[in-house]
Amino acid sequence: MLLEVKDIHISYGDIQAICGVSFCLERGELVSIIGANGAGKTSILNSVMGIFPPQKGAIYFKGQDITTMPVHQRARIGIRIVPERSRVFPRLTVYENLMTGVYGLKNKLPIDERVSWLYEVFPILKERHNQIGSTLSGGEQQQLSIARALISDPELLLVDEVSMGLMPKLVEQVFGVLEQLNRGHGLTILLVEQNAFASLNISARGYVLETGTCVLHGDAKELMDNPRVKEVYLGH
Ligand SMILES: Nc1ncnc2c1ncn2[C@@H]1O[C@H](COP(=O)(O)OP(=O)(O)O)[C@@H](O)[C@H]1O
Ligand SMILES: [Mg+2]
Repeated sequence: MLLEVKDIHISYGDIQAICGVSFCLERGELVSIIGANGAGKTSILNSVMGIFPPQKGAIYFKGQDITTMPVHQRARIGIRIVPERSRVFPRLTVYENLMTGVYGLKNKLPIDERVSWLYEVFPILKERHNQIGSTLSGGEQQQLSIARALISDPELLLVDEVSMGLMPKLVEQVFGVLEQLNRGHGLTILLVEQNAFASLNISARGYVLETGTCVLHGDAKELMDNPRVKEVYLGH
């Protein structure tokens, strides 16, 4: 098991955001947590990244208890996040933006190799190599955010609502890249999304989150056929 989250509880003052959520990811899996606005998706990802650890429960990465480990250390052991509404640096070039993902890491990485690899996965970024961030389209900026998180070769990528604010065609493009990263390169990805269709469509398994608890989980295709998921999340 690559990631194991056991019965976590997260509250902000009096607000109980997460109440006893458990889930897991095998190495090489792409798993979605779907839920409406305010369900607790960001709270879960932030707890796995260490930005806001849970007050109760435990998080294990490769069998190691990381529940209270600081963010930079989690980054070093292979966890990276594409945060919600993640923005690129508007005045830096695509290449310079990518380099901001390298900071803080002790190990010397073969940076040039990583950049060439990322330019293969994201050909549009190669084309835009010297262009400044503010001139990229929304979909290109999302791809750059994902690439920036990948430059340090993480083992687990956490992706927070990458479809937010994107036109359907761009959602398809960005999710296509995530699917390719998972299927073609074996990257383990945890997606949290309001866009249930787009995310379940590329996932092996899914969890449905409602006001801080997991109400359903299972095979992604089965979830998409589930009457409740259809009605609430797929709009039919
Ligand atoms: N920093 C915070 N302070 C107070 N309440 C918060 C904070 N962050 C999130 N919440 C609340 O916790 C609940 C879950 O939020 P969040 O994890 O952001 O959900 P989602 O990402 O699914 O929209 C919501 O009720 C939200 O208002
Ligand atoms: Mg959120």
